Amino acid sequence: MASVEFLRTDRLTRQYGGLTAVKDVNFSLRNDRIHAIIGPNGAGKTTLVNLISGREKPTSGSIIYKGEDISQQSSAKRVQAGIVYTFQVTSIFRNLSCYENVALSVQRSLKATQRKFFMVSESVIANHVSKSLGSVGLSGKENQTAGTLPYGHQKLLEVAMSLAAAPELLILDEPTQGLAQAEIENLIALILEITKSVNVLLIEHNMAVVFSLAEYVTVMNSGTIMAEGTPSEIENNHEVQDLYLGN
Ligand SMILES: Nc1ncnc2c1ncn2[C@@H]1O[C@H](COP(=O)(O)OP(=O)(O)OP(=O)(O)O)[C@@H](O)[C@H]1O
Ligand SMILES: [Mg+2]
Repeated sequence: MASVEFLRTDRLTRQYGGLTAVKDVNFSLRNDRIHAIIGPNGAGKTTLVNLISGREKPTSGSIIYKGEDISQQSSAKRVQAGIVYTFQVTSIFRNLSCYENVALSVQRSLKATQRKFFMVSESVIANHVSKSLGSVGLSGKENQTAGTLPYGHQKLLEVAMSLAAAPELLILDEPTQGLAQAEIENLIALILEITKSVNVLLIEHNMAVVFSLAEYVTVMNSGTIMAEGTPSEIENNHEVQDLYLGN
């Protein structure tokens, strides 16, 4: 697969009152690498991906996805275009079954015309749901109420929901937060599997996870990009070292 830039931001800026959470950011994603964003609390990581997914609108600047300016598009439109996002905090419907959660996500990813067609075709949805649950290792949990799953499984369910939306870009905001070590290792294996067919953008505080997964790393601080490069370049960057040592 040739290396292609499929998403870029151009001087992307988001202000909240007097605070500039993301400032003049030129950020680029290519299709041939797992990309991680790291940086201290409040650096602007979640805001940047919220702008990319459409949960937030920019104050100024633009987002270009596969040649098209999507800056003003709704997040629903972007999901249909393949930009799918999992939240920093779990966002499953706790009272619905695992099956229903994933089926909703399939529905949401379909365009209105397709939705009409798929309404009559429950078997197509069922097929997507079982494939998605299977790929995260939750086969057999279809009828379990999502809120009763152990936390690690809720996170996996969330990944299954994202995969069911057939993403081209899957944005994972701190997917390992709150997971035990064995669950983290499982999730790393799962993400490596996913990235064979989906571009992954990962926000992550756990450096062991970043360095075992990412092929390219963007470091954010105070709303701007302070460094970018391969994991080893980032590890050896003195400014980044100072940032993390708090000097
Ligand atoms: N909806 C909002 N209203 C006001 N300020 C906000 C809002 N969302 C984010 N901010 C502020 O913008 C800045 C960047 O926040 P953001 O959540 O993007 O950081 P982050 O890098 O994801 O941090 P963390 O690692 O803690 O998740 C912070 O100062 C935060 O308080
Ligand atoms: Mg965040």
